[in-house]
Amino acid sequence: MTTISKKICLLGDFAVGKTSLVRRFVQDLFDDTYISTIGVKVSRKEVTISQNGGVVELAMMLWDLAGSEEFDRMQASYMRGASGAVLVCDSTRQETLDRLRTYANDLSKINPGARFVLAANKCDLVEQQELAPAQVEAAAAEIDAPWHFTSAKTGDAVEEMFHRLGRLIL
Ligand code: GTP
Repeated sequence: MTTISKKICLLGDFAVGKTSLVRRFVQDLFDDTYISTIGVKVSRKEVTISQNGGVVELAMMLWDLAGSEEFDRMQASYMRGASGAVLVCDSTRQETLDRLRTYANDLSKINPGARFVLAANKCDLVEQQELAPAQVEAAAAEIDAPWHFTSAKTGDAVEEMFHRLGRLIL
């Protein structure tokens, strides 16, 4: 079977859980300590995707970009060549959802045709939730993306979310 390799970016504000989602997906681990990503970290995960009656081996090259308020030249260069992105917000911080459209626009400008999935992360922090499903759904509809409430801590919906994106970009 041939393996298809695709570049995927993780985009979202500081501390929403981009690194943690990748760690959960790739290593099935979680760490409570917060170490902000500097620049970019690339991880690789192979998944088998069933499609149209056949199966495809997909190597997901996951580019975990540092959260950043401003779009700069560095970020633009990291985004180049991406087939898709996971747009991550923190479901305990409303404002992190509002900014996802900007990230989607930035990536689409560089890579027209890129596909997205929206992850409203930290759904395990039940008492602190600030986002209603309807709000997440509306934001996702604007960027034509499927959406999931995820938890990198418990693993909730993490696999589904990455697989969903995998199917979209193939
Ligand atoms: P930057 O690299 O600064 O952009 O941050 P990031 O988006 O990569 O966030 P990171 O994964 O470093 O997580 C930030 C903090 O949130 C860490 O303390 C994590 O342990 C915590 N965290 C991440 N995901 C979850 C989650 O699903 N649930 C809970 N409870 N905490 C989480």
